[in-house]
Amino acid sequence: MKLTFYGHSAFALEIAGQRILIDPFLTGNPVNTTPADQVQADFIVVSHGHADHVGDTIEIARRTNALVISNHEICLWLQKQGVARTHDMHLGGSHQFPFGTLKLTVAHHGSVLPDGTYGGNPAGLLFRTAEGNVYHAGDTALFSDMSLIGAVGLKAAILPVGDNYTMGPEDSLAAIRLLQPQIAIPCHYSTFPLIDQDIEQWSQQVRQHTNARPLVMAPGSTIEI
Ligand code: NI
Ligand code: MN
Repeated sequence: MKLTFYGHSAFALEIAGQRILIDPFLTGNPVNTTPADQVQADFIVVSHGHADHVGDTIEIARRTNALVISNHEICLWLQKQGVARTHDMHLGGSHQFPFGTLKLTVAHHGSVLPDGTYGGNPAGLLFRTAEGNVYHAGDTALFSDMSLIGAVGLKAAILPVGDNYTMGPEDSLAAIRLLQPQIAIPCHYSTFPLIDQDIEQWSQQVRQHTNARPLVMAPGSTIEI
């Protein structure tokens, strides 16, 4: 599978010829280099309602006719904003899509939408595919049930490490030990001064204190995993 990073928590996964955008905060994202109107998508997955995750979902969905997957409350809100195709799910639920199975997992965070509408509970995203399993934690604190998520066997875990709003570097090391992924990819850091982190130091600590390989992606880069 191919993985593209746009900075913050925004990624694109390409699995089985399907392009899945995750938390596409592109416009107004200080570290992103890709204009929102140049992004293609078959699916858009939104972890929670905060503006730095909903991002350009509405505009990209209208232009590409992508199917937007999120929790029930966010899907209702997106339909009111003119998004035609949504698939609503909720925590603990899985569904089979053309790219594989997506499960919405627990995240400890908030989820209010940009206009103040209630956004339901925030989620993490567990993709189980023929090309490997990937967990995008969304915005969350550390929680010990991450070991249950990791039990499926993870090729990659994408974890927030910026601190202040989410786990910081130290808790992310504990998360990696619970999740046991082959690859740990940091996100939600150094987008704004408040969440600045020394990511090289984080990488060294991951190598020293976990069994995972740290993989730091530059915004705009694509890798094969
Ligand atoms: Ni958030
Ligand atoms: Mn966030």
